[in-house]
Amino acid sequence: MKKTLVALSTLALLATLTGAAQARTWDAIKQAGTIKIATEGAFPPFNYFEGKKLTGFEVDLGTAIGKGLGVKVEWVTQPFDNLLIGLNQDRYDFVIASHGITPERQKAVDFANPHYCTGGAIVSKVGGPKTVADLKGKSVAVQVGTTYLENVQKVAGVGKVSTFPKDTDAQAALLAGRVDVWVGDKFSALDVVKAQKPKLQQGDLLFQEQIGMAVKKGNSTLLAQLNSGLAAALKNGTYAKLSNQYFAQDIRCK
Ligand code: ARG
Repeated sequence: MKKTLVALSTLALLATLTGAAQARTWDAIKQAGTIKIATEGAFPPFNYFEGKKLTGFEVDLGTAIGKGLGVKVEWVTQPFDNLLIGLNQDRYDFVIASHGITPERQKAVDFANPHYCTGGAIVSKVGGPKTVADLKGKSVAVQVGTTYLENVQKVAGVGKVSTFPKDTDAQAALLAGRVDVWVGDKFSALDVVKAQKPKLQQGDLLFQEQIGMAVKKGNSTLLAQLNSGLAAALKNGTYAKLSNQYFAQDIRCK
């Protein structure tokens, strides 16, 4: 509970702090010739490290959008919980890190059109909880600052909810038997369940969400470019190719 309050008040504070410093407009970025993109780098298969190489669906998509706009791309990685704060401090131009588009976040930043649609899934050891009703009295692990946390806390009668800095830490807590359930992205869950076969199972979705790139609030020139860059990728086959590569299916919003 305390953590949610802290997370919410951080966003509320962000909303009031925006506007002080000027984010780079599209013209300024274009003139500089390089766009700075931030992600977490610990959320496979969307954004993660393969050895020293930052990779993943969102990394490839972000790079493709940047290149399509005719600028060089520079990547920055930050803990998930710091990403929107750094955005509003002008440390980078935009964030692509699987942020669900929520009314709370929309008070602090502006979101591009969704680049995929997904949901928060209930994952447990085989024989464990599978439905929302099953969560009654059960302990749950989630990544801090996420929509998983927000939505798990809404479940009446849920047991102890533990937060972890990284999503992969929350998964590890489930595997180690320290919690009954991990709630995470349904596409990440497919990979985890497969890798741990036959130990884990994916149950119902707790909620659904649309995922978007974020720019600093009011940076409408950059937002328009991201939307047209994304639209181009969706149309010219780049998106379909990447989506098939990482998920063996097309995860665009239908
Ligand atoms: N979709 C969830 C949210 O909006 C989780 C995002 C986590 N992203 C990450 N890079 N760890 O909060």
